[in-house]
Amino acid sequence: MRNLLPLLNSPHSGGRSALTCRYRCGDACFQDVPNTSDNEYAGDVIAGALSRRSMMRAAAVVTVAAAAGTSALAGPAAPSAEAAESAATPQAGPFGRTDGARGLRFAPVAPNTTDAVTVPAGYAQNVVIRWGEPILRGAPAFDPDKQSAKAQAGQFGYNNDFLSLLPLPGEHGRQVLVANHEYTDEILMFKGYDPAKPTREQVETAWAAHGLSVVVVQEERKSGKLTPVTRHHLNRRLHTTSEFRLTGPAAGSDLLKTSADPTGTKVLGTLNNCAGGTTPWGTTLHGEENFNQYFANGSSATDKRYGISTGATERKWELFDKRFDVKQEPNEPHRQGWVVELDPYDPDSTPRKHTALGRFKHEAAQPRLTADGRPVVYMGDDERFDYFYKFVSSKRMKKGTSRAAREHNLTLLDEGTLYVAKITGDSPAAEIDGTGKLPNDGEFDGSGQWIPLATGDVSHVPGMTAEEVYVFTRLAGDKVGATKMDRPEDVEPSPRTGRVYVALTNNTDRGKPGKAGADEANPRNLNKHGQVLELAEHWDDPASDGFAWRLFLVAGDPEDPATYFAGFPKDKVSPISCPDNVAFDPHGNLWLSTDGNQLGSHDGLFGVATRGERRGELKQFLTVPKGAETCGPIIQDRRVLVAVQHPGEIDGASVEKPASVWPDGPGKLVRPSVVAVYRKDGRDIGV
Ligand code: FEO
Ligand code: CA
Ligand code: CA
Ligand code: CA
Repeated sequence: MRNLLPLLNSPHSGGRSALTCRYRCGDACFQDVPNTSDNEYAGDVIAGALSRRSMMRAAAVVTVAAAAGTSALAGPAAPSAEAAESAATPQAGPFGRTDGARGLRFAPVAPNTTDAVTVPAGYAQNVVIRWGEPILRGAPAFDPDKQSAKAQAGQFGYNNDFLSLLPLPGEHGRQVLVANHEYTDEILMFKGYDPAKPTREQVETAWAAHGLSVVVVQEERKSGKLTPVTRHHLNRRLHTTSEFRLTGPAAGSDLLKTSADPTGTKVLGTLNNCAGGTTPWGTTLHGEENFNQYFANGSSATDKRYGISTGATERKWELFDKRFDVKQEPNEPHRQGWVVELDPYDPDSTPRKHTALGRFKHEAAQPRLTADGRPVVYMGDDERFDYFYKFVSSKRMKKGTSRAAREHNLTLLDEGTLYVAKITGDSPAAEIDGTGKLPNDGEFDGSGQWIPLATGDVSHVPGMTAEEVYVFTRLAGDKVGATKMDRPEDVEPSPRTGRVYVALTNNTDRGKPGKAGADEANPRNLNKHGQVLELAEHWDDPASDGFAWRLFLVAGDPEDPATYFAGFPKDKVSPISCPDNVAFDPHGNLWLSTDGNQLGSHDGLFGVATRGERRGELKQFLTVPKGAETCGPIIQDRRVLVAVQHPGEIDGASVEKPASVWPDGPGKLVRPSVVAVYRKDGRDIGV
């Protein structure tokens, strides 16, 4: 018997500290689940939710749209997962190579609570960049005693989450690193911070610590070590007062107009950028996740469905800018909760918020291409009982890097169809008993349907206009009977097989009185460890409206009978809890990072083969310091990059009483940072 680490006894969902809940999600776990719909009957919510203007228009249901929706539902039967795999195997997909994953050959890191980044034997690491390091010309070195909004606006932001590395042709050994900065932990940033009375300087520093960073990084010869190139002309910061442009079918809608922006197209700031994606045309996508927590005094039914508080906010930004006060600016929250697209190669570009991809708590957005070159973007709405979406563009990507091609490609996500998933199991409901016990056919599996919500200006949802579908997408999902999932986080299509992997991180409310019970895709009640769903669409046609699915992992301690590792022997895998981010290595192995481990270990990064005889052989690659979450994994041939988010975020911790000494040791401020891990012998990762 392996020695199990003591189970945490945290009342917080996913084992998080109260500090995490307060600063990251605005205590979402303690609030009512926003999805109270029964999915067949959403009349009250819609009626109360939509504006007076929309109510007047509600009678004018777009019959053409409804008809289109109906016909789209009658698509061809979905392929089985195996059929989709064999169809995928012999042919080159849009991403090229099709040879199988080699499996992973490193000695797994044991679960642990070491206050460090722990990597396998034979591997080394370096801190690439820390919160507060200057990246723009003129920005000062980090000084915790003199931190200011002005300094922060030229420095790497706080709480790095999603990471992307893009090539930089012509500059040898350099790449462009793009990072999300999801949120701020004021109590760990400012000495003597008083949550009841934040100062303007503290608030404006937090504004500047949110958002995105672009920073060129340089490889060290003969190792995987990376260091930032400060003052590179591509380096950039975007934060809470930077300008963004709303594009796509809802841009300019009355629902998006404010007193500062009567056009409904110009937004200041991007908030709570969690995970994201990298497009085949060389841009990055960034999910705006728990944006609700920054807005005070919400009241309408739409606010309720998005979890906007009726009172003050934790950070009290509403006292410093009226746009965070819903009473004064009722439409301002409608301008957050989108997918942002950034062109990191054009430092003067205004990033876009793509309304065609819908508004919800976007965790991430990862595209793949159809055989005819149209992007398909998969997206999770990270909330208990919320939905899983995809967008299919009607426009084809232009190849090349000409100005005309780049301008065209920046419009790809403005036209197309937004869908939500309805997922059905193939086993009798009575066999899904909520314990995680496999049904008699030996697998949690079944089929699914993509239900169209809107195409351009045409709504497919009776009673909602297209603009309403885009701005109140959760309500549209309620109306069409989308499947209530266990917190869909990152989603990633395999560049080798086209199969799509969805991290469902946990849902401790599943099966509670009055809440949805277990179903085949979400098979455990009080689900604290999560699962990973594998979805197969037609390889040539990810724009199709039917799919096959099965659970790839049912997470937890392998000795817990309610776990499943794609059928791989459970005495040969690492324990995993709360999968969050998903990435692929160049060989086609799947990598998963975790947030909120409930097995007593720190969070970490894991690799697993998805094909062949080692399918399901999950191995832990690293663990992160105390209080931290593992984010943003990138697996290159010779380097793994992770974002260590919120280290030291433990109840009772503060600048004066740190809970972690990472990354710089005792007496130094704990700082979220990006870490590179590489082999000491300079060879490829994991092989
Ligand atoms: Fe920001 Fe859903 O993690
Ligand atoms: Ca089944
Ligand atoms: Ca996440
Ligand atoms: Ca990902």
